[in-house]
Amino acid sequence: MKVIIPVAGFGKRLRPHTLSNPKVLLNVAGDPMIFYIVDQLIKDRIASSIIFITGFLGNRIEDYINETFKFKFEFVVQEEAHGLGHAIYCAKKKFSPDKKEDVLIILGDTLFDVDLKKMCDNKYSVIGVKKVDDPRRFGVVEKDNNGFINKFIEKPASPKVSPSNEAIVGLYYLKDSKLLFDSLEYIIENNIKSKGEFQLTDALEKMINENGKMKTFNVNGWLDCGKPETILETNRYILQKRNKKYKIKSCLINDPVYIGKNVALENCIIGPHATINDNCVLKNCNISNSIISEDCVIENSTLTESLIGKSSKVKNKIDVLNLGEYSEI
Ligand code: UTP
Repeated sequence: MKVIIPVAGFGKRLRPHTLSNPKVLLNVAGDPMIFYIVDQLIKDRIASSIIFITGFLGNRIEDYINETFKFKFEFVVQEEAHGLGHAIYCAKKKFSPDKKEDVLIILGDTLFDVDLKKMCDNKYSVIGVKKVDDPRRFGVVEKDNNGFINKFIEKPASPKVSPSNEAIVGLYYLKDSKLLFDSLEYIIENNIKSKGEFQLTDALEKMINENGKMKTFNVNGWLDCGKPETILETNRYILQKRNKKYKIKSCLINDPVYIGKNVALENCIIGPHATINDNCVLKNCNISNSIISEDCVIENSTLTESLIGKSSKVKNKIDVLNLGEYSEI
């Protein structure tokens, strides 16, 4: 089965970090977020090839993927980011025009702790969902009495608009690639946009109207990496899961943490939930619930809930910081 991973977005909500880095290469718990997705796909042996839809800084993603993994990868450029539906449509040329192939779509900025094999071992197309308290920030699905999806609603204005609290998490297993690309083509040719973009949900809605039956699959491990607070939450989750142990002279380590190669720590309290990447130098610091990129120098500082870009310097700060690369504060 072919897997499509769209990674062409600008990642504006994670600026300044995404001004000079593609979002999916931002570090979470010691590895770029895209590492976890590709690693799981290869280990699960469910993909025949992985098609990346690239755009902004796409060459960097292509280089990283080819240097890190050995697998059948394909890269298609989305010239302009017109939305997720448009991004997926760019993969059309990688599929045979007349054959119905099954296809798995995974968003590049969302990690999943889920049994993908089980999800894809399904008679019908399935959409990954998770129950949420307040559906207003998400796309949600509504279902009929037999459990088939009969409606997709993008960010309902109130819980009254949609009584469903099953949010779409960004994992889609679709049985019929031809119907998918025909439906995407229809919404693009007819300029059907929601919130100014060609949405995948509009094409999915068209697919169910054409009798492309879909069910839901519950995904409890849904780890969004699209915003500072959610990337930190995902960092906490992965650190907890990996739970590596470190012992460092003159330092107190509060598990779980990640400490990269060639890191010099002196008189520090690290953790819980701190990621310190390669070649950092930290002296007299207390760092918790933060991601520090490689080559940073931090002295006499207490940081929490912070994201620090590579090669930055922080001195004498007690703060919550969101600092881009090559910065000094
Ligand atoms: P998002 O909706 O999170 O958009 O896309 P974004 O650009 O990454 O981030 P913000 O909203 O500006 O902060 C979800 C996934 O779909 C891809 C993104 O790269 C991300 O992996 N995407 C989105 C595309 O490939 N092309 C698009 O036109 C839109």
